[in-house]
Amino acid sequence: MFPFVFVIVLGLCSCSQENSQSVLGRPQLFGPSEALLETVVNLNCKLLTYPKNESILLQLFKEGDRKRVLAEYTSMAGQIATFPLYIRPRHDGNLECVARAQNNSKIEPTVSITHYLKVIVPVQGAKVVVRSGQQEMFEGRELDLRCDVTTGSYVSYTWFLNNQRVSLSPHHRAADDQLLIPSVTSKDSGFYMCVASNTFNHTESFHSNSSEVLITVKDLVSKPDISFSVLKDDSLYFAVVTCQSTKGHPPVIFKLFNGTAQIHNMTSNETKATFKVPLVLGQHSGWFQCQARQGERTVYSEWIPLEVEPVGGPVKIHYESDVGEDFAVVGLRLYCKAAKGTHLQYQWFLNKTLLSGRGSFYHVVHQPPEQSILLMSVGRSSAGTYHCEVSDSFDNSTAVRSRRHYLDREVVNSLPLLVVVVVFGCFTFLILLVCVCCWIGVLFRRREFGEKSLWILEMNRTNAAFEGDLDVTEYDEDVDLARAAEGGEFDQTSEASVDEWPQIVKRGKTIEDEAFEDSQRV
Ligand SMILES: *[C@@H]1O[C@H](CO)[C@@H](O)[C@H](O)[C@H]1NC(C)=O
Ligand SMILES: *[C@@H]1O[C@H](CO)[C@@H](O)[C@H](O)[C@H]1NC(C)=O
Ligand SMILES: *[C@@H]1O[C@H](CO)[C@@H](O)[C@H](O)[C@H]1NC(C)=O
Ligand SMILES: *[C@@H]1O[C@H](CO)[C@@H](O)[C@H](O)[C@H]1NC(C)=O
Ligand SMILES: *[C@@H]1O[C@H](CO)[C@@H](O)[C@H](O)[C@H]1NC(C)=O
Ligand SMILES: *[C@@H]1O[C@H](CO)[C@@H](O)[C@H](O)[C@H]1NC(C)=O
Ligand SMILES: *[C@@H]1O[C@H](CO)[C@@H](O)[C@H](O)[C@H]1NC(C)=O
Ligand SMILES: *[C@@H]1O[C@H](CO)[C@@H](O)[C@H](O)[C@H]1NC(C)=O
Repeated sequence: MFPFVFVIVLGLCSCSQENSQSVLGRPQLFGPSEALLETVVNLNCKLLTYPKNESILLQLFKEGDRKRVLAEYTSMAGQIATFPLYIRPRHDGNLECVARAQNNSKIEPTVSITHYLKVIVPVQGAKVVVRSGQQEMFEGRELDLRCDVTTGSYVSYTWFLNNQRVSLSPHHRAADDQLLIPSVTSKDSGFYMCVASNTFNHTESFHSNSSEVLITVKDLVSKPDISFSVLKDDSLYFAVVTCQSTKGHPPVIFKLFNGTAQIHNMTSNETKATFKVPLVLGQHSGWFQCQARQGERTVYSEWIPLEVEPVGGPVKIHYESDVGEDFAVVGLRLYCKAAKGTHLQYQWFLNKTLLSGRGSFYHVVHQPPEQSILLMSVGRSSAGTYHCEVSDSFDNSTAVRSRRHYLDREVVNSLPLLVVVVVFGCFTFLILLVCVCCWIGVLFRRREFGEKSLWILEMNRTNAAFEGDLDVTEYDEDVDLARAAEGGEFDQTSEASVDEWPQIVKRGKTIEDEAFEDSQRV
């Protein structure tokens, strides 16, 4: 083992001694790191350690491609080799300089560290390519655009939609020359353009704008709404059924179904279609549904019954009052309702003059078909006779009238008093009833006295509970008496109050129409 190691060490020594004369150092390649196409650029290769008397050949190669010599230089005495390069696209990448002794194959060639040369090819001929195929597409599809250039290296890309820069997000992804919108919406419609650009030496920049490409995103038709109005035409009645989608790119084919039977169809250039269907008033004419179809997509509306009930009486008014801080009624809400009818319109009248919209002391709020509300402040100008009329919205000759109600401040304020009187009367009656019961009970106890002690005990207990209840009623009655007194006191002061609305304390008080009508004076 030892002699073997000795031989190796000896060999190494002799070798290094021999090479000290003829050693080839590692060349250094240097020069600019960027070069513009079709310009001349000098790259340099320097050899610091080289054997004397040997002719050294320095060659420039692309890394990994020794077959093609890009430039060469023969040096006898360690000058710096200069490679003038007329820049071509093939010069782009890692370059290396190889040094070898020309007539001495014993000397191993050496290679420099690679030098990266960026060859800038000015960008030209940008063009948008729709990789996803169609320029027209339905929402929800993928849009994949690419910006192709005929020439250009180290290119960066900017995308524009309708001359606005496309801002990137998870919904608008851009990478290299690609713009990807995984799920388009109608907002992505418009003219797309890409601008490809590159720069040389941070000083010179090149741009190429593509021409614009129109991308149209078609809205998918949404679930249609179905509704109908009634039309009277020469004493015949029709339902005008409207099928309406909120969005959808036309053409959309609308169909109307009565149960399973298709009644009408129509190709619409909007998102809406109307159909006229004959109708018999007061009769159920079937269940109707709209279908909207766009290409492969079909959506349906809800089902609605086609039934029109004409207006039917009686038409009644009931009211709720608003009570002011001083407990006077300052405002009224009159409700007008008809017993029957599906397509109703309402009219309010004061002294037979029509009230509509908003006036100095009133505000009409229609809530068809259920009801109409007349909101009014109670004052001098609002005094008069009120009534409402309800008619079919498609035929105003069918008006049904409510009873007339005379309303002024006194009438309105006497109503709560009336209620108080009624309630007080009821309580008095109740107390009397309780007293009578007690009296009968006492009589009964006297007669049964001494029969069964246990029975008496139980009777006493019930009586105790009974008297407890009585206490409660008496208490309630007191409160009501107090309220009645307040009301009375207030009625006198109410005369003095003016037409204005004071701060209203809302005290929900609904009185049946009948009770209200009792007080009318007309
Ligand atoms: C090399 O140079 C030495 C002198 O430095 C000279 O004696 C010798 O002949 C040269 N050898 C060759 C091969 O030229
Ligand atoms: C090296 O060899 C070439 C022929 O292979 C010859 O022409 C040239 O003169 C030689 N150079 C030296 C320095 O020996
Ligand atoms: C690169 O830019 C520098 C200034 O930033 C300028 O001095 C130099 O000449 C430019 N080189 C080329 C090759 O244009
Ligand atoms: C190219 O696009 C850039 C950036 O939008 C703009 O400034 C320039 O005017 C455009 N050039 C042409 C020829 O349209
Ligand atoms: C639409 O209605 C017409 C008659 O008005 C009918 O000929 C046609 O077949 C219908 N189309 C469809 C798709 O049902
Ligand atoms: C709808 O269909 C029902 C029975 O299928 C029929 O009685 C009714 O008249 C139809 N309605 C219309 C408006 O055609
Ligand atoms: C309505 O008529 C009554 C008399 O019937 C009258 O006192 C009142 O001022 C009239 N109201 C209006 C607003 O004309
Ligand atoms: C019914 O309405 C029409 C127009 O909408 C109007 O001309 C006519 O006077 C009205 N008839 C009645 C009785 O209100």
